[in-house]
Amino acid sequence: MAVETPAWYDSPFLKAARREPVERTPIWLMRQAGRYLPEYRALREKYSFLELCRKPELAAEITISTVARFGFDAAILFADLLPILEPMGFELRFGPGEGPVIRNHLGGPKDVDRVQELGEDRLAELDFVFEAIRLAREGLPKTIPLIGFAGAPFTLAAYAIEGGTTRSFERTKCFMIEDSGAWRELMERMARSIARYVKKQVTAGVQAIQIFDSWAGCLSPKHYQQFVLPYTQIVFEAIPADVPAIHFLTGNPMLLPLQAKAGGTVIGVDWRIDIGDAWDVVGDGYAIQGNLDPVVLCGPEELVVHEARAILQRVRGRPGHIFNLGHGVLPSTPVSNVSLLVQTVHEWNPRQIS
Ligand code: CP3
Repeated sequence: MAVETPAWYDSPFLKAARREPVERTPIWLMRQAGRYLPEYRALREKYSFLELCRKPELAAEITISTVARFGFDAAILFADLLPILEPMGFELRFGPGEGPVIRNHLGGPKDVDRVQELGEDRLAELDFVFEAIRLAREGLPKTIPLIGFAGAPFTLAAYAIEGGTTRSFERTKCFMIEDSGAWRELMERMARSIARYVKKQVTAGVQAIQIFDSWAGCLSPKHYQQFVLPYTQIVFEAIPADVPAIHFLTGNPMLLPLQAKAGGTVIGVDWRIDIGDAWDVVGDGYAIQGNLDPVVLCGPEELVVHEARAILQRVRGRPGHIFNLGHGVLPSTPVSNVSLLVQTVHEWNPRQIS
């Protein structure tokens, strides 16, 4: 008996991810469900951020209602990059107004052995994520693909070493260059854990995976190639070939050729490079996602329309563009500008030659 193709297969998002021509450019936004939304802030009065992540019914509900409100072309699971570190032996906290804090972060290379790799048993501690995926998939329209995600090995290792947000990444970089053996061990444990985590997300029901390497931009190309690329590759190689994989990195367009080499079929770029130039660098063998500066959404309506159209114009006629911001939606973003952005992108004809 022939298996019926699910309706999401021919969605603009998945078609663009496969570099097939589309009638309209798909759009979704990183942090599309977050503090700029009054209904999200209302929920946060009742629950802490980690509580929301750990309650599958609520996480699924936030995922679904955000897509319905704006008409985004894809849903991203409501979750976070860092809870994966808990079953690996780290204590994670989000203090009010201070971002993530890991009290028992690694003190240096000597501590690598306390990082516990995620096998099937420990992975079960993240069942709330897989359950949220099942519920979100069940509740979403069949035409809307669901994106799962994880942090890349470098970004997670950096959190495990720094214990929170940093500007200089001094501790991480010193660790990396002082003891390359311990670094390799740490990165392999991270990479294999992340690989199992994303594979299980696929089994639970996501149609695409995004890997966030939000902090790798602090590295030189030489250090990225030596200390990061081989481990990121382990993660991408684990993602089934029929599942589009988005590789997002921010802060350093000089890393683009290596970012593409490390893996992914869609390359996520920030606003620090012209999107057409970025596409030229990685080549037509990749789809591209981006790259409006999130700050534009805090500006006047004319600016939102103008800047969005400039990006659309730059990639017009080239199949494989997924519209997004260059990083997450800022909490001060007016909700009306998000609607306006979606409308602007959807009204555009990506195939018209002007
Ligand atoms: O994109 C989405 O809508 C899905 C949900 C999502 C969140 N975080 C929700 C969130 C996703 C995909 C992430 C990824 C994430 N988390 C990244 C990579 C993307 C990036 O921003 O570079 C990183 C680095 C994290 C870690 C993290 N989570 C930090 C540093 C912070 C604090 C900073 C901040 O913006 O508050 C968070 C908190 C967080 N993650 C919130 C949300 C909605 C805000 C929590 C709150 O309600 O206070």
